[in-house]
Amino acid sequence: MYKVAVLPGDGTGPEVVREGLKVLQAVSEAANFGIDFVRYDLGGERYLKTGEILPESVLEELRSFDAIYLGAIGHPDVRPGILEKGLLLRLRFELDQYINLRPVRLYPGVETPIKGKGPAEIDFVVVRENTEGLYAGAGGTLRKGTADEVAIQESINTRKGVERCLRFAFEYTRRRGNRNKLTLCGKTNVLTFAFDLWERAFNEIGASDFSDITRDYAHVDAIVMWMVKNPEWFDVIVTDNMFGDIITDLGAMLQGGMGIAAGGNINPTGVSMFEPIGGSAPKYTGLNVVNPLAAIVAASMLLYNLGEEAAAARVENAVKRVCETHLKSLAAGQMGYSTQEVGDLVLKYI
Ligand code: IPM
Ligand code: MN
Repeated sequence: MYKVAVLPGDGTGPEVVREGLKVLQAVSEAANFGIDFVRYDLGGERYLKTGEILPESVLEELRSFDAIYLGAIGHPDVRPGILEKGLLLRLRFELDQYINLRPVRLYPGVETPIKGKGPAEIDFVVVRENTEGLYAGAGGTLRKGTADEVAIQESINTRKGVERCLRFAFEYTRRRGNRNKLTLCGKTNVLTFAFDLWERAFNEIGASDFSDITRDYAHVDAIVMWMVKNPEWFDVIVTDNMFGDIITDLGAMLQGGMGIAAGGNINPTGVSMFEPIGGSAPKYTGLNVVNPLAAIVAASMLLYNLGEEAAAARVENAVKRVCETHLKSLAAGQMGYSTQEVGDLVLKYI
């Protein structure tokens, strides 16, 4: 029996989470394990009603779960930054989910905007550092609102934080057993303090403990070029928080869009949180038109993280079948099916 906290969140979050829960329920019954779901109504609505974003007591409760399943955070009536920092980033930081794992995989039958590339060429994983860098919140403002205003936003990179991220990435590359190649994405030609630390740690750790893994380096601007031109060059990419944020949105487009892109905020020794990476899509709220597959793939990653690898594979294969044989497109309103019907199709193949 597992305990999973469910945070449907804002916008279309609840609609896609409903489909993900249907799938988790079905696959757990079929595989003979149980999941106890506990819902939390965190998000924009609760904040607007009560002023609460993430009460201390809820945070403490969340620490006791086996995993967290998140829909989406972001409300059109709440100023940008409040919910993102107060809820999503706070959860990542407080629960020390120091890895953001984002697979970029093109499923059969899905159209990519990259001409001439198919599922064989688009299949890599981004390991994004998830607790430091520009996201740490270091910096400040001086003389705000005057002509002499100063804004400083600093990137925090600690040897410990960088090292644990790199070790995870090396181990993940080995476990994946694909091409045993790890690419560090940085900017050593300009960010000479931060990425000097990353590059040294990368080479030291790689040489001493992972000699079976090929080390590769590319600047972030070259990475985005090659992600489009030669995505097949990549097996696993490891990078800092900000670059990881940016390149994984490009990755999501390569694999067919936000309708399918999922990720895990992982604390290898604690509570991890799984989410579709697309956001709350307010304009589609309640219309039953958005694609729940990203949330369903996130559910599959959650199962894998619990150690239910067979159940995870079963969900992923069902998603593949649905892409291959049914959906006209992955885009909201163009799938040829409603949100709920796509969930039902996945159930059928499970
Ligand atoms: C993501 C999102 C978040 C991020 C935002 C909503 C804070 O873009 O999960 O990639 O920047 O990490
Ligand atoms: Mn992002």
